[in-house]
Amino acid sequence: FATAFVKPPVLRPYQITTDADGAPLHKYEVVQQVGSAGIVGGGLSTTLLGYSGIFPGPTIDVDQGTRISLRVRNKLPLVHPEWGYPLDTSTHLHGSASLPQFDGYANDLTHVGYKKYYQYPNFQPARTLWYHDHAVHNTAQNAYSGLAAQYHLHDPAERELLPQGDFDVPLTVTDAMFARNGNLAWDDNSHSGLWGDVILVNGAPWPVMKVQRRVYRFRVLNASISRSYNFRLSTRDAVTVVATDGGLLPVAKQVTSWRHAGAERYEVLIDFSKYKAGTSVELQNTSNKNNVDYDYTGKIMRFDVTDAPVTTTRPDGSPDPSWNRVPTTLVDSDVMALKASQAKKTRRMRLKKNDAGIWTLGDHSWQEIVDSGFTKNVANPALDDVEIWEFENSSGGWFHPVHVHLVDFQILARNGRAPFEYEKGPKDVVYVGEGETVRVLMKFGPHRGRYMIHCHNLPHEDHDMMTQFIVGMAPG
Ligand code: C2O
Ligand code: CU
Repeated sequence: FATAFVKPPVLRPYQITTDADGAPLHKYEVVQQVGSAGIVGGGLSTTLLGYSGIFPGPTIDVDQGTRISLRVRNKLPLVHPEWGYPLDTSTHLHGSASLPQFDGYANDLTHVGYKKYYQYPNFQPARTLWYHDHAVHNTAQNAYSGLAAQYHLHDPAERELLPQGDFDVPLTVTDAMFARNGNLAWDDNSHSGLWGDVILVNGAPWPVMKVQRRVYRFRVLNASISRSYNFRLSTRDAVTVVATDGGLLPVAKQVTSWRHAGAERYEVLIDFSKYKAGTSVELQNTSNKNNVDYDYTGKIMRFDVTDAPVTTTRPDGSPDPSWNRVPTTLVDSDVMALKASQAKKTRRMRLKKNDAGIWTLGDHSWQEIVDSGFTKNVANPALDDVEIWEFENSSGGWFHPVHVHLVDFQILARNGRAPFEYEKGPKDVVYVGEGETVRVLMKFGPHRGRYMIHCHNLPHEDHDMMTQFIVGMAPG
């Protein structure tokens, strides 16, 4: 634990206005460009690709009901400075029900030298989202090189219940490996995945964060290319899980560890008032099956409890009831109120490698979707249909975090049993572990169109474990 904890900067809008409907509209810009960071020490610097040239990119912070226009300028070099492939990009806001043309479709590329305006509606319940690159076949290397950042959507219920401002802390966890010259090294092990020996939190290796003796909220995002974590505190004390990918759980859950795959978000509260000043609490990773561990991948970061005066007010100066309160009842969301009996259809999708050695989802690869002129699909629900999808991991010794774009879902069952306590909230990525079959329930809307579904182990996604579903368009 050698570096100081850092929070990525919060992006400022370049214009605040209203749109044609009179709704608030905030306009932002990020420039995709080459940057460099002092990560490894020894006077070496690491070349990265970043939104605004930094990793993680700047955080976007927005209130429900405010629309966002995000101008993404691709000012990257024509080809990756080290790995030589073309740097056309597509930006996906993961967790947003965006219109299809703004969803970062893998083949909807913005070429170097061009820009694209993305529109984000922000009508959904409060949640932690993230924006990252989604370019066809290059998502893993682009995200690994730095094109990833958090995006926080707030609403009144969440503001009232949970810590805000300095006590609402993003933790973007990644792993990396470095070459002798300080640059990122790449080895995706024949498309099975990349497991680095260095753990970064918000881009800093194994950082130390000084904390007050009060309640903090951590928005934990696993933005690793492949690695999944099994997080716990060194004290073995419980943390309180208050939100999953799609926002607040109906009921907060106390857990002493949680399994956390790529792209999943868990928001956890830690109450540091139970520790004396001078105590150190580590966030650790006890690891899951089929990851590659190194000497220090069991450690993530450290919290040093200080005797600094405790802040009991909100950023606006009003009293902050969340400073010493860990709520139990949170928010009932539409997706958690869905009942399996509402489902019109159950679809079963296998996750496996085909005979040609290509990763497939629902027996499709992305190349087949492309070759079909984007007509093939794995599902074609009508608008507002409720369906159950069953993901069956028939790939032997692999786990696959499956991400469905557009919708939030509820996990119904894992191998016929209840999901883990901490998964009992709105999700958009589900960990489908070795030999597991997982059932999820969701309602398709509010937009029609083509959306992607894929494994979020990014080398799997790129080769070629991705397909599409089409909402409200294709005949039944
Ligand atoms: Cu986070 Cu389709 O991705
Ligand atoms: Cu996978």
